[in-house]
Amino acid sequence: MEIQLWREILAPYELAVDELVVKFNHIIKEHRRAGIYSPIEEVNGRLKSISSILEKAQKKGIPLDKIEESIEDIAGVRIICQFTEDIYKVADMIRHRSDMRVKSEKDYITHQKASGYRSYHMIICYTVETMKGAREIHAEIQIRTLAMNFWATIEHSLQYKYKQNMPENLSSRLHKAAEAIIVLDNEMSSVRGEIMDAQNSFNIKAHIVADILTNIQNLYKVANQREVVKIQDEFFRIYNTGDLEQLTRFGRELDLISEGYRAQSLG
Ligand code: GTP
Ligand code: MG
Repeated sequence: MEIQLWREILAPYELAVDELVVKFNHIIKEHRRAGIYSPIEEVNGRLKSISSILEKAQKKGIPLDKIEESIEDIAGVRIICQFTEDIYKVADMIRHRSDMRVKSEKDYITHQKASGYRSYHMIICYTVETMKGAREIHAEIQIRTLAMNFWATIEHSLQYKYKQNMPENLSSRLHKAAEAIIVLDNEMSSVRGEIMDAQNSFNIKAHIVADILTNIQNLYKVANQREVVKIQDEFFRIYNTGDLEQLTRFGRELDLISEGYRAQSLG
């Protein structure tokens, strides 16, 4: 097949990857803005290269005209989570979305692969709009923890280096490392509540501070200069105490003051 034709074939998959990355990143944003812990930590996407597609087709004996129906990971999205529990939450979110349909799922977390690989895989059907109208394509979503991703990345590069001939002692060390990753993920899960609390209060504080600073900035335009400087000094004083409750109260009072000025300027 000519390169030009390949570009045409791959275009909808490229669009799907771009759209999916935007959508999953937006989930992170929505959670952070609401001050809620996000089950998604990071999202990556990639379009399978022409040479990888050809290599896979050859290995699996797939004829060129059956590539699109037989290779389900031309569009690939990887979702990284902090905790194993988050993976199942994300999988559930995906199942309930109206813009994608789950075709199949593989749980390599409860059913670890022989290599030691762990991850949750979903093949979805996803529709993109092209110049020629709507096109439904397949995409593969891999969901894993930071630790699982660390292992898979290292193992993948070693696999790549040794092809089929990974030395026995290396693969046995990789198996041991995979076991250590399980212990690590379990350990993290057991302190999950505390980690989430810490991240939540960090997010909440960041939001309150941002709101306060916006309010103070707006007050400079409408209120008495000396008054605003006093408010600003009070903010710094409370901020330095590190007391989130006081900061919240101050934020609310400032909201009321700003509200008052807004009402005045409207009236
Ligand atoms: P593929 O021919 O790779 O698609 O196999 P499959 O159709 O049985 O799918 P599977 O779910 O096993 O694997 C899909 C993808 O998961 C691969 O393309 C890799 O990205 C990843 N993967 C699967 N097994 C391993 C593994 O042992 N190590 C690493 N690093 N990644 C793996
Ligand atoms: Mg596959």
